[in-house]
Amino acid sequence: MRPFELYLPTRLIFGKDTIERLPQLLENYHSILLAYGGGSIKRIGLYDKVKELLKGKKIIELPGIAPNPKVQSARDGVKLCREHNIDALLAVGGGSVSDLSKLISCGAFYDGDPWDLVLDPEKIRPGEHLPLFDVLTLAATGSEYDNSGVISNPDTNEKLPVFGDLNPVASILDPVYTFTVPANQTAAGAADIMSHTFETYLVKEGNTLSDGLCEAMLRTVIKNAPIAMAEPENYAARAELMQASSFGCCGILADGMYPSPWVCHGIEHEISAYYDITHGAGLAILTPVWMRYSLSKDTAERFKQYGVNVWGLNKDGDAMEIANQAIDKTAEFFKSLGLPSKLSELGIDDTHFGDMADHIEKFWFGDFRDALRPLERDDIVQILRNSL
Ligand code: NZQ
Ligand code: ZN
Repeated sequence: MRPFELYLPTRLIFGKDTIERLPQLLENYHSILLAYGGGSIKRIGLYDKVKELLKGKKIIELPGIAPNPKVQSARDGVKLCREHNIDALLAVGGGSVSDLSKLISCGAFYDGDPWDLVLDPEKIRPGEHLPLFDVLTLAATGSEYDNSGVISNPDTNEKLPVFGDLNPVASILDPVYTFTVPANQTAAGAADIMSHTFETYLVKEGNTLSDGLCEAMLRTVIKNAPIAMAEPENYAARAELMQASSFGCCGILADGMYPSPWVCHGIEHEISAYYDITHGAGLAILTPVWMRYSLSKDTAERFKQYGVNVWGLNKDGDAMEIANQAIDKTAEFFKSLGLPSKLSELGIDDTHFGDMADHIEKFWFGDFRDALRPLERDDIVQILRNSL
């Protein structure tokens, strides 16, 4: 068992009609920046509901936050915070809205360009951030329950995490608001939740409790994603996905596990940075390829455990064979959700693979040599090539 530290200061408020808690949560704040995306919250009536619940407060809006949120929106948001003496942020939408709001929250206390805070987290001074509240509309990233965000800078082809004590104060999670998530985003969200779990689970050393939590996470998504896609208004399935979303990235799955460098995320963020693809779709392509690349006699037992405990494969047999079956199952599952299985399906070729690998070596928080199969720069390029 490895040492660990876990701090989860966000109040998760889960269930139907929990939006009604909003006035109470925000009662001590008067000037609020309402951040949202391209309009889905207006189409589902959530925008009107929020405005009605916050009647009497000064609400300044930051609309148009794009998927793979762009740093320019954070610059705009910081400007609004200063002009209007904003004292709290309210992010309503998917992970992109929440992530971008996290950068605004610390950017409001920093005199330079918010992008500096992405490149150098030490510039984020502890305690100096605006309180962030979140209403989640898409089960995927876990941003509603973690301390970081992911920001894109199209000028430099970079997509990098911003790390700090950026946890929302409270996140409202009403599965009903995810009924309208389209099939492709539901599938991508499922792949993202599974990838967060794989990144934590498929490491050099686990432990009984954390392994069990990871396996339950994976079974939860495998069971519920197809149901949510076939019946978008199935509350139970949407609820189970939403619950899993919050557990994927908050650190609880990693308790006592061998530290992971989050290989697929490191690589996927490079692809999104260059091609602005949907995060979960990129992960669905990379994950089975990375698994296969990491499979060897030394790692087969870990994949076998996954195959037996998650897919119900027969445990009696050659570990290598069972491991390969487990990886096949993973790839087939993503395919069954309609997710792509090759980068070339998204019009991506090998033009930038070398630059991507160099960028990971320079900027990614994790050391790929700590991965289940230790990886060097050329391995990254090979995984990308195998994904074409
Ligand atoms: O922009 P709107 O109109 O709101 O539409 C969004 C967007 O087009 C739509 N959508 C969201 N909720 C909806 C809905 N459409 C209909 N009904 C609803 N209820 O879905 C599209 C995608 O939204 P987005 O917020 O981009 O998706 P997601 O939540 O998957 O977030 C992806 C971003 O999060 C980052 C990813 O890299 C990516 O940039 N991640 C953040 C993490 C974190 N903070 O810890 C960890 C993850 O690994 C990930 O990297
Ligand atoms: Zn992710």
